[in-house]
Amino acid sequence: MPAPVCLCVLCGLPASGKSSLAQVASAQIRKQGWGTFIISYDQLITEDAFDFCSSVEDESSQTKRQTRWKQHRQAVLSCLEGFLKDPEDLRPCETERSVGERFNLEIQKQQILPPPERTSSQAPWVTVLLDDNFYYQSMRYEVYQLARKYSVGFCQVFLHCPVDVCLSRNQDRGQPVSDEVIVEMSKRMEPPNAVKNQWEQSSLTLNSTSNLTDINIQNLLQLMTLALENPLSPVQDDSEQRDADRERCASSVVHQADQACRRLVSQAMVTARESKVPPEVLRALAKDLSEQKSVFLEDLRRHVLRQLPGWERETVDVERVVDRALNVFQQQTDSVLQRHSINAGARSDSQKYSA
Ligand SMILES: *[C@@H]1O[C@H](CO)[C@@H](O)[C@H](O)[C@H]1NC(C)=O
Ligand SMILES: *[C@@H]1O[C@H](CO)[C@@H](O)[C@H](O)[C@H]1NC(C)=O
Repeated sequence: MPAPVCLCVLCGLPASGKSSLAQVASAQIRKQGWGTFIISYDQLITEDAFDFCSSVEDESSQTKRQTRWKQHRQAVLSCLEGFLKDPEDLRPCETERSVGERFNLEIQKQQILPPPERTSSQAPWVTVLLDDNFYYQSMRYEVYQLARKYSVGFCQVFLHCPVDVCLSRNQDRGQPVSDEVIVEMSKRMEPPNAVKNQWEQSSLTLNSTSNLTDINIQNLLQLMTLALENPLSPVQDDSEQRDADRERCASSVVHQADQACRRLVSQAMVTARESKVPPEVLRALAKDLSEQKSVFLEDLRRHVLRQLPGWERETVDVERVVDRALNVFQQQTDSVLQRHSINAGARSDSQKYSA
């Protein structure tokens, strides 16, 4: 019998108290004679740990950073997978070099398994605490899938902490994250939602506005005990999750396309004004373009949902889909202009949408 393991995801904004919780919980877990392993993403991945742009970055360095970021996150998961294969006979993680090396160091440094005299005849329980922001539900779902694949326990703790508290705590840290990143991440944060997602049932929200209490820690230990006693099973219907992924992907495409369509509509209006058309034509044109845009975006959503059934967020090239959609919308605005006898060709080149 392999050691029963529980993967416990700690999520929340930077400076919401995840790392302190991991330390305190880990000490308690050891007292119970269980094994414990803290996987701190900050320690394994030294680059900035988020996928959105910061204002000081140009586009190409941002793209490079995002690609590296994704690779490194994958590397952590693949090291974790190696660990799950046999927690009692650990082999070095040989994935992507820097992450793998740091992972192996952590394994050596942290006394993961309890000393033999503290365990009974059974294999010891081991809890793995994953310390990262995990701000999208899809990031946590990857951990859940691993737990399912290896039939181990799974639970999540969300550290709820107001942005202003995180910002002020962040200032007291050795290497503060930029305020902009914390604010941006708070907008993206998708806290565990057990009502919407069946797989997020084993979740606990702790209010970390002030110091965590002993009761908080006891609740967490209870959650982990339950998760250890009820390991996931590999066969489960994940169609619900696929639907949710698709829905989110469609929303993301439509959201970006909407922004760009607004620009095309205002460019078309500029062209019309430059052609000196009468005000009533301008008004009719604005109305037509706005209706055109609504219909177009609704069609686009349906198209994404229908045409791309196997898509998961990570594999979708949203930019490309949006680019292609915009070419279509550009043609549509041109023909609306023509319907109002305005020559779309009069648009200056600098106004043209460049794909
Ligand atoms: C969290 O705790 C703080 C003080 O510790 C309290 O003021 C606040 O209302 C709590 N928030 C929630 C959502 O319970
Ligand atoms: C929270 O914990 C820190 C360090 O453990 C301590 O210095 C501080 O006084 C505590 N704050 C409260 C409100 O209990």
